[in-house]
Amino acid sequence: MKKRKPAYRSLKTRTKETREIIHALRTQQVDAIVGRRQVMLVRLKQVEENLQSSRDQLRALAANLLSVRENERAVIARELHDEFGQALTHLHLGLSWISRKLTPAQQPLQEKIRSLSATTTSLIQSVKNIARELRPGVLDELGLVKTLKSEAREFEGHTGIHCGFRTNTAKTNLDRTVAVAIFRIVQAALTNIARHAHASRAFIALMKRKSALILTVMDNGKGISRKLIYSHDSLGITGMRERTLALGGTFTLKGARTSGTMLTVRIPLSRVAVHF
Ligand SMILES: Nc1ncnc2c1ncn2[C@@H]1O[C@H](COP(=O)(O)OP(=O)(O)O)[C@@H](O)[C@H]1O
Ligand SMILES: [Mg+2]
Repeated sequence: MKKRKPAYRSLKTRTKETREIIHALRTQQVDAIVGRRQVMLVRLKQVEENLQSSRDQLRALAANLLSVRENERAVIARELHDEFGQALTHLHLGLSWISRKLTPAQQPLQEKIRSLSATTTSLIQSVKNIARELRPGVLDELGLVKTLKSEAREFEGHTGIHCGFRTNTAKTNLDRTVAVAIFRIVQAALTNIARHAHASRAFIALMKRKSALILTVMDNGKGISRKLIYSHDSLGITGMRERTLALGGTFTLKGARTSGTMLTVRIPLSRVAVHF
C-alpha cells in the first residue's frame, strides 16, 4: 500500500492537472469565441450605423432635391407664363389687327391669318396648361380639396376612367408643403393609372383620422408586382415614396391581379399643421 501511494497521488495530481489544462483550454477557447463574436457584433453595429447614416443622408438629399425641383418648376412656370404667354398674346393681337386691315379681296391671306390665329390660341392654352402642371398655382387659389376634385374630373374627361373623390378635410387648411406633396403624388398616381393600369375605375380619398392624414389612390386595373414597386427603375414610385418620407410619413403600394392597385400615404398630423 505504501508503495502504491505515490503512484496514486501522482495519478490524482496528473488527473487534476489534466482537468485544469482542459478547463483552461476550454475557457480560453470560449473566451476566444466570445471575443470574436463580440468583435463581430461591434463591427456589425458599426456597419449598421454607417448604413443608417448613409440612408439619412440620401433621404435628406432627396428631400432637398424635391424642394429645389419644386422651386425651379415655379421659376420656369413664371417665365413660361410671363415671357411666352405675353409674346403669344401679342402675336395673337397682331394677327387680329392685320386681319382687320385686309380687304375682302384678300381672301387667301385672310384664311391664312385665321389658321395662324387658331394655332396661336392653342399655343396659349398649351403654355397655360404646362405652367399649371409645373406650378400648382391652383393650389393657392382653390386649396387642395377643390384642386383634387378638379384633377379627378379632368382625369375622367381625358381617360374615360371613372374617378371618385372623397374627403373629410374640406374645411381643413393644410400646410403648403404637405398640400404640394399630396397634389404631386395624386398627379403621379393618376398618370400611372392612365398609362399602366387598364382600369375602368379609380378612387381618391383624403381622410383626416385621429393621428394621421391618409391619402389613398386606388384603381381596379391589372395590379402591380412587388418587383416593380421596389425596382430602382420605378422612378415615379420612388419619387412618391421620397415625398412621403420627407414629411415623416409612410408609403405603401399594393397590387393584386384581381383587385387592382392601392396606394396609401400616411402623414402624421403633427407634420401636417392643420388649421381650421
Ligand atoms: N396603377 C398601376 N397599375 C398597374 N401598374 C402600375 C401602376 N402604377 C405603376 N405601375 C407599374 O409600375 C411601373 C413603375 O411606375 P413608375 O415608377 O411611375 O414609372 P413609369 O410610370 O415612368 O413607368 C410602371 O411602369 C408600371 O409597370
Ligand atoms: Mg409613372
